[in-house]
Amino acid sequence: MSDRQDLLGRHVLLGLTGGVACYKAAELTRELTRAGATVQVVMTEAALQFITPVTMQALSGRPVFTSQWDARPANSMAHIELSREADAIVVAPASADFIAQLAQGRAGELLALACLARPAERVPLFVAPAMNREMWAHPATQRNVAQVAADGAVVLGPASGAQACGETGDGRMLEAVELRDALVAHFQPKVLAGRRVLITAGPTFEAIDPVRGITNHSSGKMGFAVARAAAEAGAEVTLVAGPVHLPTPLGVRRLDVCSAQQMHDAVLPLAPTHDVFVATAAVADWRPSQFNEQKIKKDGKKVAPSFELAENPDILAAVARLPAQARPWCVGFAAESHDLVRHAREKLERKGVPLIVGNLGPATFGRDDNTLLLVDAAGERELPHGDKLSLARDLVREIASRITRFPT
Ligand code: CTP
Repeated sequence: MSDRQDLLGRHVLLGLTGGVACYKAAELTRELTRAGATVQVVMTEAALQFITPVTMQALSGRPVFTSQWDARPANSMAHIELSREADAIVVAPASADFIAQLAQGRAGELLALACLARPAERVPLFVAPAMNREMWAHPATQRNVAQVAADGAVVLGPASGAQACGETGDGRMLEAVELRDALVAHFQPKVLAGRRVLITAGPTFEAIDPVRGITNHSSGKMGFAVARAAAEAGAEVTLVAGPVHLPTPLGVRRLDVCSAQQMHDAVLPLAPTHDVFVATAAVADWRPSQFNEQKIKKDGKKVAPSFELAENPDILAAVARLPAQARPWCVGFAAESHDLVRHAREKLERKGVPLIVGNLGPATFGRDDNTLLLVDAAGERELPHGDKLSLARDLVREIASRITRFPT
């Protein structure tokens, strides 16, 4: 993660209940504090079997609470004090038994008591289940989880995969960074609430034969950052990604494609159901006219093979040409090696889009930071240099302010 302090000034009550995933809560504490949050750990009796309060105190820098009879709070009401000072309560791991307690509104120990006593309109409750797959699949657990969600808690996960018990299936707690990112997202302003955003990202790969192709250096990082920022801002996000090695941002629907034609064929039918289209992909302009079914061999030939190239469809221009009622608000990117303003403005007109985001391609490909230039009919504006997620958030705010005149 970058040095962004996305949780600066936020106070998190982190509750641990019984489960092997308590070791991930240690990492979560570090991630939250590195992001600027203060963390108050509360552990249930069962959690004490899995990790010690000494570790959690060392990582959070605060003594851990384990009992509702703790004498430290002046009014002797730990559940009130702890739940009033928190900006969010995160229960990670949340055991089947703890979720059952929440569902029933039980208050048998400090953590459940604090969850019940929290001012629900101000202090959100996040629950990260962690348990054996059979326990997770049991109708009683499913009933309880549904009840907890209906009562206003945000259920994060669980993920699927190898479990501590040796079995494989649903019930693994999400990773610490995923939980951190969910919390970060919660605190972002919801400037795109109710909007649907379609994004292309990454390079495309134009196959020559089964083992070779034409591609470029785009890493997809900017597009993935825009997808994450849009999701954080409350949008429903669809990300059409070329071949990249990046994890899908939380809450984003992802479609993987390879060639420009595939990207075009995925995007065009989706465009009319979206409010905004952001084309960050570095789409190959040309593809080999013919695909060789078999690998082209050297076979001692002295003459290098030559290729005919065919032009790929321009995805952004095609979306921008859709009839007004089927057309999302379009944002193009322009990666240039020189004369950024001139080329960006020329693209604005040629593609018929209201906003082009310019950047100097070779200086940004693969990097985590960037500088963006917004070019529209009104003029140019530079977004301050920053990491790609900060820039993406700025861009999302810019887009949101420009589309407010469009009804959702
Ligand atoms: N784009 C697209 N489909 C293409 C080519 C480009 O959707 N076949 C989109 C890109 O995602 C970007 C914008 O158009 O948002 C500009 O891409 P760029 O490659 O910079 O522009 P080109 O139109 O290819 O112009 P040139 O290569 O001459 O710079």
